[in-house]
Amino acid sequence: MSDATDIRDSLSTDGAALEDLYGAAFPDENLIPLLRDLLGEKEGVFSFVAMRDGALAGHIVFSMCRVGGRDEKIALLGPLTVSPRFQRQGIGGTLIHEGLRRVTGEGATQVLVLGDPAYYGRFGFEPECRVSPPYDLPQEWRTAWQSVSLSSAKSELSGTLFVPKPWHKPELWAP
Ligand SMILES: CC(C)(COP(=O)(O)OP(=O)(O)OC[C@H]1O[C@@H](n2cnc3c(N)ncnc32)[C@H](O)[C@@H]1OP(=O)(O)O)[C@@H](O)C(=O)NCCC(=O)NCCS
Repeated sequence: MSDATDIRDSLSTDGAALEDLYGAAFPDENLIPLLRDLLGEKEGVFSFVAMRDGALAGHIVFSMCRVGGRDEKIALLGPLTVSPRFQRQGIGGTLIHEGLRRVTGEGATQVLVLGDPAYYGRFGFEPECRVSPPYDLPQEWRTAWQSVSLSSAKSELSGTLFVPKPWHKPELWAP
């Protein structure tokens, strides 16, 4: 046994293991339709898995988005999932760090997330006010909308985020 975590692109053969992972990590929420839709996208979606001791231990997805008519690429992070038996071992953090590095290589200048600020704040995410989510968020979720810049230049982007089709579901943006 080792605690080394390998991050690689997900493969079409990972589908069943990923569905098991999502079933275990989200017992009260069915994210499998979103997972399938994202994995079925032909381009603009980057999906990485974390392997630990030969097992699929975690998964992260980044969807490339735009704001208004601008060319600048912004990535939406989500979902992020770590198997319950591998949680609190740094795998989520490794997926975020390595994912940010890889989407920077794909030309993204900023990453947005709808998630717990207590967790994402550890990775430099801050409340996002200039770029709006595609659907209005409930009041209690407003502070969950966050971003991190991937370039040294501060982004001037503002407007509504245009997300790829798998995210065109209002229920993904409200409790
Ligand atoms: C949230 C999740 C991805 C974190 O992955 P992980 O590999 O366990 O996280 P890491 O080991 O990198 O970091 C663990 C630290 O984050 C903290 N943490 C985990 N989930 C947290 C959360 N939702 N809010 C705040 N802190 C959280 C842990 O308390 C731990 O802190 P410690 O190191 O001070 O003890 C994982 O717990 C998970 O998949 N949960 C179920 C699915 C989920 O909620 N996903 C949405 C993410 S917003």
